[in-house]
Amino acid sequence: MNNNCTDLLAFDRQHIWHPYTSMTNPLPSYLVESAENVTITLATGEKLIDGMSSWWSVIHGYNHPVLNEALVEQSKKMSHVMFGGLTHKPAIELCQQLISLTPEPLEKVFLSDSGSVAVEVAIKMALQYFQSKKIQSTKVPSKKVQSKTDFTKKTKLLTVRNGYHGDTFAAMSVCDPVTGMHQIFDKVLNKPYFAPAPTIKFNEDWQEDDVKELSKIFAEHHHEIAAFIIEPIVQGTGGMNFYHPEYLKACRQLCDKYDVLFILDEIATGFGRTGKLFACEWADISPDIMCLGKTLTAGYLTLAATLCTDEIAQTISDGDAGCFMHGPTYMGNPLACAVANASIKLLQTTDWQKNIGEIEHYFSENLLPLVSHPRVTDTRVLGAIGVIETTQAVNMAHIQKRFVELGVWIRPFGKLIYIMPPYIVKPSELAILLKAITIILSEDECFI
Ligand SMILES: Cc1ncc(COP(=O)(O)O)c(C=O)c1O
Repeated sequence: MNNNCTDLLAFDRQHIWHPYTSMTNPLPSYLVESAENVTITLATGEKLIDGMSSWWSVIHGYNHPVLNEALVEQSKKMSHVMFGGLTHKPAIELCQQLISLTPEPLEKVFLSDSGSVAVEVAIKMALQYFQSKKIQSTKVPSKKVQSKTDFTKKTKLLTVRNGYHGDTFAAMSVCDPVTGMHQIFDKVLNKPYFAPAPTIKFNEDWQEDDVKELSKIFAEHHHEIAAFIIEPIVQGTGGMNFYHPEYLKACRQLCDKYDVLFILDEIATGFGRTGKLFACEWADISPDIMCLGKTLTAGYLTLAATLCTDEIAQTISDGDAGCFMHGPTYMGNPLACAVANASIKLLQTTDWQKNIGEIEHYFSENLLPLVSHPRVTDTRVLGAIGVIETTQAVNMAHIQKRFVELGVWIRPFGKLIYIMPPYIVKPSELAILLKAITIILSEDECFI
């Protein structure tokens, strides 16, 4: 490494926060020079096969010519204009696409800057919806009386344990209160109702008992619950668990029964990762509000979307405020929308389902058998996600270094080594990822 790189890294270490990283004793960061297809090239010249898709987002691979062109062409027209009072084709086309691709009846779109903000927006929508509904009377025909429902009492949220929805305040409040990384803020966070996490796995036989506690909370507290939020099928950061589609179906039914809005956080799962375009398709259901992010621009720019039904949008707009009370500066950024449009078109013109199927097949043949390794307690695969759960937590400082030495970029946490490569990954590249994992499993220093 030349001096310049050393200086850059020294400055980085002294002055720049990294995600969930100490400022006084940070683990080393690696200086990246460039990235292409599935390969990240470090400033030192080392080439790493990427198993992370930069946290789920880079689905088409790095430095994609089609996405590059979309970005350059849009930048020649305008990089940004405010979205208040102005609009533009990239945003309109993107919203047309999102409405046509997501399950009905989602037909109104709010664009924002990141996954956490998309969740924040979803929660605000649900709360503002019920405040706007106020007190409503419904006739009970047989008795010729009116029953009154005070919807303004619906100010709380319901979620399940092991969830992760982001780092802003409302999003933090619905993360797992213990493992969700935000325990330190416990005293200031709003307290939602927490049901136990789903336990029946994706491929296991379904048992109704799995929603027993959840049903009880709905029955007892629905008068005060505005929305139920969950990651569909894959609980990501909270444990990389794949739960049963029937669980999601039951959630939809409970939300309908008790007049609770159903928010699905498809930020990690959206756009194909699980083998369906959206994970809720496994259960053949649709939410009232859906959050998208990460894959939306295929790793190019930060952009997120919150979709809702016409009824939610109408109710909010007919309420006292007369509008939805949110409006970020970079809302509908044209560069991000243009890349998102190009990414969606790319997805539609490639056989992504075949690619995901091939990755899943490769993982089933080569990753699942690692369960017999003495250091492994479980392996699981869904679509282009492969997970290895280990007996001991990883030693991050050591394992990260070893993975880099072995030519891969994999970033485990706790007892989880997981990979979700770009959809264009080749079998030879998957082989390198799995070989590296197999090697470190036998290295004591990589575990605590
Ligand atoms: C399911 C889910 N929701 C929300 C978020 C937050 O997204 P962002 O990091 O873009 O704010 C994440 C990020 O990992 C996520 O996995």
